[in-house]
Amino acid sequence: EAIAFHTSRHYIDLSDLAIARGIEPEKFTIGLGQKKMAIASPIEDTVYLAINAAKKALVKFNISPEEIGTLVVGTETGVDHSKPVAVYIHQALGLPSNCITYETKHACFGAMAAMTSSGDWIASGRAKGRKALIVAADIANYAVGSAAEPTQGAGAVAMVVSDTPKLVKFNRDINGYFTKNVMDFWRPLYAKEAFADGHYSIQCYLEAMTETIADAGPNLPNLEEFSACLYHVPFVKMATKAHMRHFEVDSNTEITKESENFTSFRNSFKEKTEPWLNLNAEVGNIYTGSLFLSLINLLTSPNLPLDRPISLFSYGSGCAASMTSIQPIAGYHDWLAQFNPAKELESRKRLSVKEYEYFMEQRELQLGGDDQLKPSDWDVQGDYLYLGNKSHIRQYLNL
Ligand code: HMG
Repeated sequence: EAIAFHTSRHYIDLSDLAIARGIEPEKFTIGLGQKKMAIASPIEDTVYLAINAAKKALVKFNISPEEIGTLVVGTETGVDHSKPVAVYIHQALGLPSNCITYETKHACFGAMAAMTSSGDWIASGRAKGRKALIVAADIANYAVGSAAEPTQGAGAVAMVVSDTPKLVKFNRDINGYFTKNVMDFWRPLYAKEAFADGHYSIQCYLEAMTETIADAGPNLPNLEEFSACLYHVPFVKMATKAHMRHFEVDSNTEITKESENFTSFRNSFKEKTEPWLNLNAEVGNIYTGSLFLSLINLLTSPNLPLDRPISLFSYGSGCAASMTSIQPIAGYHDWLAQFNPAKELESRKRLSVKEYEYFMEQRELQLGGDDQLKPSDWDVQGDYLYLGNKSHIRQYLNL
């Protein structure tokens, strides 16, 4: 029924980062397909991102807090081992006290898992007309100077799921799932940065794609029937690799640059996936929200055919994946005319590499620290800014 997005106020240009690291900018801009990545300051934490996205979703789509009966935050960068990010949103938005409130985790798959169970909650009749608010919120953090450094990002996508949808509906009989214990990407409890076996993680992602398509079986439409194909986007180029695998499984052929069907694959990619990657290229990997950021991009298009499905592939390292399908609903575009995510991104501030490194250092200092952060020290605006800890309790502006 609703979707909205919030990100940090700062970004780094990937050409600047490449030059500082002595790497050809084209490796990041063409090889990974990324232009920029959002960089969170220490006072813009996962709670701040999640609350601001959730607030936009309710306000812009005229949904009253009283209507929400389930609130789930999918995140892998929560702020406490025990207390969920969701309960901060519950307070900030004034949600009813009988709202079911929790956090889900399976790397980038957490929010899609929440979408599925919320859909089931509504379909079971137990929601009794109430709606689910799902927030995918994360800050992707890798070591400065590592191969994964250009694939960071920060942001949250909030969505409302209900039995009165206004944007898209899920085709509930089309779904395939896959789970396998792999060490492709992880973040131990003691680490602030994620570890990735980068090239292996790409293989795991693609294997999961093949397996989810197989699990979806004959109910899954042929690739040609989909008007658009959206994927989890850790970096833009991954969506090309994903669509190639989707195409290969669908056509039961292997694709190489030399093969006859390479042009058909390129055309299919250009039509179904490439146009919806602009926001991802500007924001970077926002983990749980990356797939849904691509969905926001898609829904800004006024011309989606209403009679054709759209595929959604979610992948979370570790790993878990799903292949599902949605369909746009007549009038979907009227609602999105109320906000323009691309315009919001234009007002962000560009950081130099030195400033970005300072942000990263300061974020580290705040982990577990008891010092108060001052909003006036950081060029950011808005409510629910994180102010540091007092007696081990997180402090937020206006919360
Ligand atoms: P790398 O190993 O430094 O890069 O790191 P590379 O050598 O593989 O090069 C990347 C691409 O740039 C290649 O293109 C090169 O050819 C090209 P490809 O062959 O793949 O098409 N290239 C150039 N292109 C133009 N001009 C040039 C040039 N030089 C090279 N001059 C890697 C890349 C993605 C491995 C690294 O950034 C990384 O480890 N990232 C983190 C892991 C990741 O994002 N994995 C994705 C799949 S797993 C996933 O999606 C889950 C995740 O979101 C976590 C979660 O679930 O929570 C990560």
